[in-house]
Amino acid sequence: MNLLISSFLCLHLLSAALWVGGMATMHFAVRPAAAETLEPPLRLPFMAAALERFLGWVGGAIALLLVTGFGMIGMAGGFARVHWSVHAMVALGLVMMAMYGHIRFAGFPKLARFVAARDWPAAGKVLGTIRSLVVVNLALGVLVFIVAVIGRVL
Ligand code: HEM
Repeated sequence: MNLLISSFLCLHLLSAALWVGGMATMHFAVRPAAAETLEPPLRLPFMAAALERFLGWVGGAIALLLVTGFGMIGMAGGFARVHWSVHAMVALGLVMMAMYGHIRFAGFPKLARFVAARDWPAAGKVLGTIRSLVVVNLALGVLVFIVAVIGRVL
């Protein structure tokens, strides 16, 4: 493996760690802590502000995953030359990205509108839907790690 491929893999793994680790932090630490300590008029604007920042960082991580991932496939000689685990990673990764797009461009704008209107029940409902999507994406992210790292030796 040459220096360029190693650098691409390093950036790829950092991006995947930021995305999957970030979802775990939001789900297991930030959201329950906010639910425990803040009433809806504080909790929902707080969660919207935290999500807005996180979604921005994940957008950057996805761009890097795509550039480095397809870059490594190109350097390996194309799709026909890579292991089945990479094909599975791409398929699952694209599903994760579609779900991210749904959260960012459909769910989050709705949440922001309800928060701006101080409609806490409606904002809470949208946040619940976003939470379910994040749980599914977190599970998919863990599955991608398993497929990518264990699948390559099968
Ligand atoms: C959809 C776009 C993606 C493409 C094109 C892609 C492509 C690749 C390629 C070509 C490798 C190198 C494989 C090897 O050298 O054996 C790789 C490694 C890896 N990718 Fe992805 N990937 C994508 C998305 C993801 C996502 C979303 C995650 C995790 C959430 C991820 C996690 C990993 C991991 C953990 C490795 C290291 C595997 C190892 O070296 O053992 N990838 N990826």
